[in-house]
Amino acid sequence: MSERLKTVVFPVAGLGTRFLPATKVVPKEMLPVMDKPLIQWASDEAVEAGADTLVFVVNRNKRAISDHYDQAFELEQRLERSNKLELLQIVHDVLPSHVRPVFVLQSEARGLGHAVLCAQPAVASGAFGVILPDDFIINRQGPGALAQMAAVQARQGGSVIAVEPVDWKDTGKYGIVSGTELSQGLMRIDSIVEKPRPDVAPSNLAVVGRYVLDTRIFELLEQTRPGAGGEIQLTDAIAALLGEQSVCAYRFEGVRYDCGTKFGYVHATLKLALDDAEIGDDMRRLLAELHEGATSD
Ligand code: UTP
Repeated sequence: MSERLKTVVFPVAGLGTRFLPATKVVPKEMLPVMDKPLIQWASDEAVEAGADTLVFVVNRNKRAISDHYDQAFELEQRLERSNKLELLQIVHDVLPSHVRPVFVLQSEARGLGHAVLCAQPAVASGAFGVILPDDFIINRQGPGALAQMAAVQARQGGSVIAVEPVDWKDTGKYGIVSGTELSQGLMRIDSIVEKPRPDVAPSNLAVVGRYVLDTRIFELLEQTRPGAGGEIQLTDAIAALLGEQSVCAYRFEGVRYDCGTKFGYVHATLKLALDDAEIGDDMRRLLAELHEGATSD
């Protein structure tokens, strides 16, 4: 077992309906939080966890994502000629040279489980990571969420799923787990259910968009029939995996922003702007003014 996750999958073939009309042409994952698109925050987290193969599961409307990871020849030449080397470095850092992007098509949005299954031909054996980029997680104190989970998987074996407590009234929006605590922040999962109503939810511990999965999940996904919403649910295949191997729920260090919602997206942007060395002070001033109703527009 190694702490390094060689392959990380990004299922990004959803329709992004909650951000229409912004996402009619621009993929949700290309929306920026400060100066980086969501997809790059996610790929940076994967590279930090050791990945050298990034598998993007896309549809025909996600061309901008492959463009983002492609070489921008003219732009790079111009930056080089005008000696704007810091900007050139930023462009190069989008994808470190040892990292290979792979693009796989999910022709029809048949659910998250189906999207993960589409990635199978590009995934090496052993454990692999999955990141849902609209679950934006930032950890200022140490390694990113996926690197933390890779370390847990290296110790525990099996599969590891990121969780966090949510308001009981919101259990119907998430996969919910229950199980036996192994140590602080780590639990062996006994059951997992997709979007239970609060009155039947086994706990308020919600699955969020980070997974370290054993490749056995692919065989289980192949056998998974459409579940909630007529989609092939990753949760259902994970429920089947529970009977075969240890699957742990891990309460990661860091803060998650649900950038699939307008509130979460604006919250993340605001937080990063407040923390930013260049504009943080101006942001605080602006917020204070807005709070006092001092600005008219
Ligand atoms: P969401 O439930 O957030 O759906 O999918 P969505 O399409 O991205 O956004 P809304 O709800 O319409 O606004 C969770 C993750 O699963 C991926 C999405 O791209 C997102 O990263 N997904 C979902 C797929 O890749 N394929 C699917 O068939 C469904």
